[in-house]
Amino acid sequence: MSLPGTLGAMCGIVGYVGPQDARDVVLEGLRRLEYRGYDSAGIAVVADGRLSSVKKAGKLANLEKLLAEQPLPAATVGIGHTRWATHGGPTDRNAHPHLSADGSVAVIHNGIIENFASLRAECEKNGVEFRSDTDTEVATHLLAAAYAQAAEGPGRLADAMRAVCRRLEGAFTLVATVATEPDTLVAARRSSPLVVGVGDGEYFLGSDVAAFIAHTREARELGQDQVVEIDRHRGLTVTDFDGGAVEPKAYTVDWDAAAAEKGGYDRFMLKEIAEQPKAIADTLLGRLGPQGELVLDEVRLSDQELRDIDKIFVVACGTAFHAGMIAKYAIEHWTRIPVEVELASEFRYRDPVLDRSTLVVVISQSGETMDTLMALRHAREQKARVLAICNANGSTIPRESDAVFYTHAGPEVAVASTKGFLTQVVACYLVGLFLAQVRGVKYEDEVSAIVADLRRLPEAVAEVLAGMAPVRELARSLAGANTILFLGRHVGYPVALEGALKLKELAYIHAEGFAAGELKHGPIAVIDEGTPVIVIVPSPRSRESVHDKVVSNIQEVRARGARTIVIAEEGDDDVVPYADHLIRVPRTPTLLAPVVTTVPLQVLACEIADTRGLDVDQPRNLAKSVTVE
Ligand code: M6R
Repeated sequence: MSLPGTLGAMCGIVGYVGPQDARDVVLEGLRRLEYRGYDSAGIAVVADGRLSSVKKAGKLANLEKLLAEQPLPAATVGIGHTRWATHGGPTDRNAHPHLSADGSVAVIHNGIIENFASLRAECEKNGVEFRSDTDTEVATHLLAAAYAQAAEGPGRLADAMRAVCRRLEGAFTLVATVATEPDTLVAARRSSPLVVGVGDGEYFLGSDVAAFIAHTREARELGQDQVVEIDRHRGLTVTDFDGGAVEPKAYTVDWDAAAAEKGGYDRFMLKEIAEQPKAIADTLLGRLGPQGELVLDEVRLSDQELRDIDKIFVVACGTAFHAGMIAKYAIEHWTRIPVEVELASEFRYRDPVLDRSTLVVVISQSGETMDTLMALRHAREQKARVLAICNANGSTIPRESDAVFYTHAGPEVAVASTKGFLTQVVACYLVGLFLAQVRGVKYEDEVSAIVADLRRLPEAVAEVLAGMAPVRELARSLAGANTILFLGRHVGYPVALEGALKLKELAYIHAEGFAAGELKHGPIAVIDEGTPVIVIVPSPRSRESVHDKVVSNIQEVRARGARTIVIAEEGDDDVVPYADHLIRVPRTPTLLAPVVTTVPLQVLACEIADTRGLDVDQPRNLAKSVTVE
């Protein structure tokens, strides 16, 4: 038997109430959420006092095929789900929606109901027969029972939902519809994402705004432990789990629908790589206030609180963690505050020393990564101040932070982060400069000089992108490699880690990034005749002859048979004799160099994956937004 507690984790959720045909709106919403990663999908609609549902393992094409064979009736209310299973089979029976025994209540779910086992035992004792291995089904049966007991009349489904939510432990977004209420949808959230879109006489629910931005950009944030009832005629009502009224925060999504389309590219990732100059420029835009001072988006901290900070933790996962590693070099150098970088999944479990004078910078493109969210909550419980660097407006992480810096990358659809990463790095630079400025450790003209360097980055990245034809050719010759190693030093080290991560997740090739100086302490033993080694070379102007040391490292690996692929800045002739392949990048100040040196590695990984015939936008086993711990 599978482990139901971890099923349905990173799922996509769509709901619709309104005059359009719910079947089309929901299916289209699911298509827009495909990027989240999933392995089965399903839809339910209410029409003519009946609930009809279709679900199927595999990609949406399978569901669409089934829908052609078993069409659902036209409806004004519908829900849809894409399920990403972490354990247990991605089967038809485990796909959502899950229906009550009499088929009158349908539920979709994202998250984990941690106490599902005891609740399932209780339901079974009451004679309920389970038809799946999921934890979600427990919520469905409980909801059906609570609905049967709730007082008839408006608000009945919401009453039942609140009663169920009070009994659930864990993280969940639940959306439910019932056969007898053709104009009503009810949803609840605790620590799992859900946003509401408000159109003209119509309402949408989505795991993120991509589900509905083709229809409306007016949205409502749902807070922790809240239930929303949407009635086509009575509108939107939000309460807490005890029924207390809540006024949801309204916001306008600043992404347009076209931004979440491929726009002529074959792959989202190619488009997102190409968008990087603009994404960086947009992230820098409007950051200088009238007096030339740097501004963040939302700061609920006083200058005095920022001056009192004596330690910084940067906490994130995956690619965002690599951005955090780069941040450490820049923020420590500019502010002289000690900075530690931690994986969010490790942070709180080692009992870090945190207090009021600690600043925790959490970085998350999606704003929903559960490990990062839990680290944030732990930090706040310990009274630390939390600053979020985030791309998705209206997501949970910025909402729960003391200060927010939004990257303006636009929607990132490909699972592998590219423009999200570069804009996170740029945001980290700006946060470092902001702190340096508030604390008075940098003069304004020093800050302005660095900001001027930052402003040259979009052009530098565009220049790198324009010269990628040889990298694509090189990629094709690397597509058969079993292992590829990445070396870097100083800020080049996180770039090496990021290059290796991109290759692993896209091309499924074993890849590792090393600090170049560590190689001789062990990893050099794996180098064999022809092993591809990609080296990120620092600028010859970098301090403490780091450049020369990396050039020595290239010679060391080459002497042991490695095929060297060297990324070095224009004019660095020292590397020429030792490079089997040389990739040039524009001259860039040392601390800012990751923004340009990362780009060839993204293109390389994307091209190798493509040559291997792999799905670049949705690599196997991965989800875009990891909403379980
Ligand atoms: O949304 P987040 O930035 O919090 O996501 C963190 C990681 O899951 C993410 O960067 C992941 O490593 C990407 N697949 C990398 O390409």
